[in-house]
Amino acid sequence: MKKMVNIALPKGRLGEKTYGLLKIAGYPCPSIEETNRKLIFENEEVGVRYFWVKPSDVAIYVERGAADVGIVGKDILLEYDPDVYELLDLGMGKCRMAVAGPKNFRDPAGATLRVATKFPNIAKTFYTGKCRDIDIINLNGSIEIAPILGLSDVIVDIVETGTTLRENNLEVLETIVPISARLIANTASYKFKFEEINAIRQSLGEQVNKS
Ligand code: PRP
Repeated sequence: MKKMVNIALPKGRLGEKTYGLLKIAGYPCPSIEETNRKLIFENEEVGVRYFWVKPSDVAIYVERGAADVGIVGKDILLEYDPDVYELLDLGMGKCRMAVAGPKNFRDPAGATLRVATKFPNIAKTFYTGKCRDIDIINLNGSIEIAPILGLSDVIVDIVETGTTLRENNLEVLETIVPISARLIANTASYKFKFEEINAIRQSLGEQVNKS
């Protein structure tokens, strides 16, 4: 018998695009397309149950098995290092993790570098690799404002179009890593629902190759 696969989708634009891909890959769910405040939707016929969660929470749902698979940005995987399988690069939600700062910024060698970020682990790993002493300033959003107000020297953040940086007179100083959306799976689910999950991976992969 076909087992239902629970799929955590990231709320927002990336989630909607991903659902669009799943739909054409053979996993439509008409109720998810109705405008309402519901968070869980299922289509028994094709064996999927979707739920919308906060993008940064997708990996937690999958790691703990509340979802069998999920769609998550590589940034979240690098930051939280969840114990999940990364099955497929969806090639969407493309951006990069970068160090940014004021134009013509010069690293104050000798002094500790103050780095504002939502991604402390990515920042620490990056600067440890360069043997550079840093002071992490943990923020939750609008990171670009930190160097402008003198709260930090630089930021480590996601850059997509570069508009936010440009409009705040900042620029990319170094690219850390390219980012895109990934299909991830719970390690136990991947064994127990191998057939179903692999079918999703394959159909999605075919759609990704077409686009
Ligand atoms: C993200 C990121 C940058 C911006 C980059 O912020 O933290 O601020 O998008 O995009 P751009 O290069 O296309 O301008 P988000 O919109 O998630 O909001 P936040 O400031 O609350 O983190």
